Amino acid sequence: MAKTKTQFSCSACGNVTNKWSGRCDACGEWNSIVEDTPLSTGPSAATLGSSKGRNIVLTDLRTEEAPPPRTHSGMGELDRVLGGGLVQASAILVGGDPGIGKSTLLLQAAAQFAKQGVKTIYVSGEEASAQVRMRAQRLKLTDAPVQLAAETNLRDILTTLEAERPQLAIIDSIQTMWSDNVGSAPGSVSQVRAAAHELTSFAKRKGMAVVLVGHVTKDGQIAGPRVVEHMVDTVLYFEGERGHQFRILRAVKNRFGPADEIGVFEMTGAGLAEVLNPSALFLSDRGEPTPGSVVFAGIEGTRPVLIELQALVAPSPHSQPRRTVVGWDGGRLAMILAVLEARCGIPFTGLDVYLNVAGGMKINEPAADLAVAAALLSAREDAAIPADTVVFGEISLSGALRAVGQTENRLKEAQKLGFTTAIAPKGGKSPATSGMKLNRVGDLTSFVGDVFGAG
Ligand code: TYD
Ligand code: MG
Repeated sequence: MAKTKTQFSCSACGNVTNKWSGRCDACGEWNSIVEDTPLSTGPSAATLGSSKGRNIVLTDLRTEEAPPPRTHSGMGELDRVLGGGLVQASAILVGGDPGIGKSTLLLQAAAQFAKQGVKTIYVSGEEASAQVRMRAQRLKLTDAPVQLAAETNLRDILTTLEAERPQLAIIDSIQTMWSDNVGSAPGSVSQVRAAAHELTSFAKRKGMAVVLVGHVTKDGQIAGPRVVEHMVDTVLYFEGERGHQFRILRAVKNRFGPADEIGVFEMTGAGLAEVLNPSALFLSDRGEPTPGSVVFAGIEGTRPVLIELQALVAPSPHSQPRRTVVGWDGGRLAMILAVLEARCGIPFTGLDVYLNVAGGMKINEPAADLAVAAALLSAREDAAIPADTVVFGEISLSGALRAVGQTENRLKEAQKLGFTTAIAPKGGKSPATSGMKLNRVGDLTSFVGDVFGAG
């Protein structure tokens, strides 16, 4: 039998080394290296030479296989993010900040699946059964035939799953599970990795779908090694701002559907409610046109969403003016401020700049550039953009505007919500949609001239 060699791994990035050090060479994190037991119990490289493997059957790329059968939960927003329903024998990781509503979402999903006749087991490693039952009562789900357990011992859980043969198992959370094969404490890198590996391979072997709940660290990573993300088929993040009731379930990886798809929910006193028309929700508080407020016609995954951007520009009392961004990338804001200064001669020196995406939404699309620039200019000039106008387009460092995809979908959504005008870059395909006035601009300078009257 091969001797087990001690190794070390970084609890932040999962990098494996032979010796301990105070700082991880791979990610630069301090005090994150911990002792680790190698996962593999199979033949090591040394024994490969002496025993002969069997021939693997090779095939071509033609496929007669039907698409994987899917089960619908009845929660449209969840099914959409999963790529059209739950796939058998798949593993899903749901990450999110503590208290954001992961357990609530998964208990509601478990109940929905169970009501459709999917045999569902919910294993809570964080809360006692009584607590989960109390939540079920609050959510009015006590009639759903979900089987519940409060357990953290992986061996017992796997034995039970083997005997019960559910079609869906929910493990809340992966960080609380511990395997007695691994020496280290629950929540450590090797425990999380071993538990995730055992559960996903069990799911694949038995044709069961497994959902793992994962906690997110303060910098937004799923605690424990990134390898868990590689092990599963689908990675979903449940996000939102604490003070807001909106919650967004976002697919960041999906082997069975489009990544970047979002589902929108609202946290109510009786659990999560689906939001079928997110644009109306993100715009609901708008009244009179206000300087600094601009509506961006965005695309999230496969669907258009209108989102309000708000900017505030004020003289700064500090020698280093503030740049504060919520819901967008700070680096990208700096870039747009630099382009406005260098290409259009509009400086923001000595001014504090605040940018906020309304409703707790996070935007990643470069197509928001022009809307951000419009919000900044509108705030700086104290001139409101007309309330019936949406804006989208990417800004390049030269100050030119670049066309973005799905113009037609963006316009349709805007029209549906009562907007009449869109400001968008020149170029790209001409959309067929009539009814919307499309104001096409070639570069940022002409945009400034067109919208604010002067350069
Ligand atoms: P929870 O699902 O326990 O979060 P997580 O599992 O991600 O840690 O959600 C906890 C929060 O949600 C808690 O602050 C209370 C709130 N909540 C509601 O507002 N309404 C509800 O119906 C439920 C069940 C929870
Ligand atoms: Mg929880």
